[in-house]
Amino acid sequence: MKILVVGNGGREHALAWKLANDSTKPELFCTPGNAGTAEVGTNLSYGATDLAGIRQWCLDNQPGLVVIGPEAPLCAGLADVLEADGFRVFGPSKAAAELEGSKQFAKEIMKAGGVPTSAYETFSDPAAACAYVRKRGAPIVIKADGLAAGKGVTVAETIEQAEAAIRDALEGSAFGDAGSRVVIEDFLEGEEASILALIDGENVVMLASSQDHKRIFEKDRGPNTGGMGAYSPASIVTESVLEKVKTEVYDRTLAELKKRGIVYKGVLYAGLMIKDGEPSVVEFNCRFGDPETQAVLARWDGDMLPAINAVIDGTLSEDLIQWKPEHSVCVVMVAGGYPGDYAKGDEIQNLEKANAVQDTVVFHAGTALKNGKVVTAGGRVLGITSTGSDLPDALSKAYIAVETISYKGAFYRNDIAHREMRRLENG
Ligand code: GLY
Repeated sequence: MKILVVGNGGREHALAWKLANDSTKPELFCTPGNAGTAEVGTNLSYGATDLAGIRQWCLDNQPGLVVIGPEAPLCAGLADVLEADGFRVFGPSKAAAELEGSKQFAKEIMKAGGVPTSAYETFSDPAAACAYVRKRGAPIVIKADGLAAGKGVTVAETIEQAEAAIRDALEGSAFGDAGSRVVIEDFLEGEEASILALIDGENVVMLASSQDHKRIFEKDRGPNTGGMGAYSPASIVTESVLEKVKTEVYDRTLAELKKRGIVYKGVLYAGLMIKDGEPSVVEFNCRFGDPETQAVLARWDGDMLPAINAVIDGTLSEDLIQWKPEHSVCVVMVAGGYPGDYAKGDEIQNLEKANAVQDTVVFHAGTALKNGKVVTAGGRVLGITSTGSDLPDALSKAYIAVETISYKGAFYRNDIAHREMRRLENG
């Protein structure tokens, strides 16, 4: 069977790698893919939001499954377009993807459904937004309503920062159309964690927990990035937290969507803030997380295809998914300067050597092939992912592999999983 994976990040390399290793040995295609997906399948030249091009390729090549990785094609309606032609698609409809496509919609659903989340208001008038911020105080969170490629969120420490973020979004062109409205919400304290859940329209199966590291520098300092590393499992997500996430987050969200005639099929990522064992939703994403997917899929025991098919067929159940007892870590290597300006086209050395480190896979993100060599082609370049009998074992393998790789300006955090390590050290 032919499988098409749409996207070109580390998440898509991890998905393509997992599916290519399925015991049924499918033929993998990725569009547009990266140098890593080219090792497990065939890269196509359609951009992830080239709906017409991807549809035409599907009509000509009849894949048995299309897995859509990023939010942009999902929010643009790629799943709807392909399903209308009878293709089997993993990924929510455009209407369901609004949970990520509009922060205002996500908050409205959560408020109406009684899902724990912070208080909020939505504004398109800067003066009214600034007045709200002054009334509410800082710290406070300003979010562009629409998709802003991971850059639309400002955690303002002061009223001045909040007002500047409001003006950038509503008066400037910081986020284009995505910033024509802002959602302003209360800052939540606690520790963040990520839960990815497969949903077949009715049934919800939560995947192994993980924790991302969004800031560029160690000790969680500096600007936000797309994610500098992740580990799984995250012990902050206790059994009791998981139970609450299932009933208070997923069940209530799906019930509220259903009231509005929206069926959710695919993966729904809940970004959580956990304080004193109580989870609150920071954000919903209509797709797998990146780099959480790399860490989580490294622990998936056996084939993933039966669970993907069950999501499409409405037959999802817990017994389709098993987890390896090992712990996993993904350390992201980025281009120097990221998340600001960075260079592209630098040759990456020693990838094979790093891949040969025990229990380690080097997932590519911003990479490309140039004259037969792998070169940097994006801000987040690689996600070095290792498993181990415990977290220190996984970390030690991952960092051995990271230190093996070199390219001009390579940068990574040395403290991935620092919270979990502190918990371990403190017993
Ligand atoms: N790791 C954050 C995200 O995927 O949005």
